[in-house]
Amino acid sequence: MATEAQLGTHELTRVVFSEEEIQRRVAEMARDITEFYGPEEDLLVVGLLKGSFIFVADLVRRIDLPLHVDFLVAASYDGTRSTGAVNLLYDPSASLKDRSVLLVEDIIDSGTTLARLLPILQERQPRSLEVCTLLHKRLVTMEKEARWVGFDCPSEFLIGYGLDYSENFRHLPYIGALRADGGA
Ligand code: IMP
Ligand code: MG
Repeated sequence: MATEAQLGTHELTRVVFSEEEIQRRVAEMARDITEFYGPEEDLLVVGLLKGSFIFVADLVRRIDLPLHVDFLVAASYDGTRSTGAVNLLYDPSASLKDRSVLLVEDIIDSGTTLARLLPILQERQPRSLEVCTLLHKRLVTMEKEARWVGFDCPSEFLIGYGLDYSENFRHLPYIGALRADGGA
C-alpha cells in the first residue's frame, strides 16, 4: 500500500492491479515476446516516455534475447482540432531501419497517440514494428492493434507504475484509481 508520504493529500479509491499481479503479467509478456522474436533478430525496444519507464525497465530485464533500448517523447497537440498531430520532443537516437522495433506504451486510451506515432516510425523502414502496452482502456478499433496487452482496464483514471496524475504517483509499485474528489 502507498505510504502517506507517497500519496500526499490524495486518496486512493482502490488498488486496481497489485504489484504481484503486475510482476506476474510482465513476466508472462516477456516470455511471449522472447518466443516471438528469435535471438537472431536485431531487436530494438522503444519506450514511450514518460509513462512507460518502469514497465520498460521491468520488461526488458525479463526478455531473454539480445536487445537494445531507446526511448521517445511524443507531445500531442490536440487543441480544439480533431486532427491534432504528434511531435517528437525526443527522437530515438538509434536507427530503426531494418530492425525489429517493439514500441512500448503504458496505456492505450483512445489510441490517438499511437495512430499518429506509428506512421512516423514506419517511415523509418523498420523490418517490423509491433506494439506492447501494459494497459488497454477502451475497446477502440485501431488500424494496428497492440500485439501484446498486459491488462484490459476500467475506464477510470489510473495512477502508479509509471502513470501520473499531474506528474504525481509515477513511483507507486502498483496501479490504483484515485477518488474523484481526491485532490482533483
Ligand atoms: P490515447 O492517445 O488516448 O491512447 O492516450 C494515451 C496516453 O494518455 C497515455 O500514454 C497516457 O499518458 C495518458 N493516459 C490515458 N489514460 C490514463 C490514465 O488513466 N492515467 C494516466 N494517464 C493516462
Ligand atoms: Mg501522461
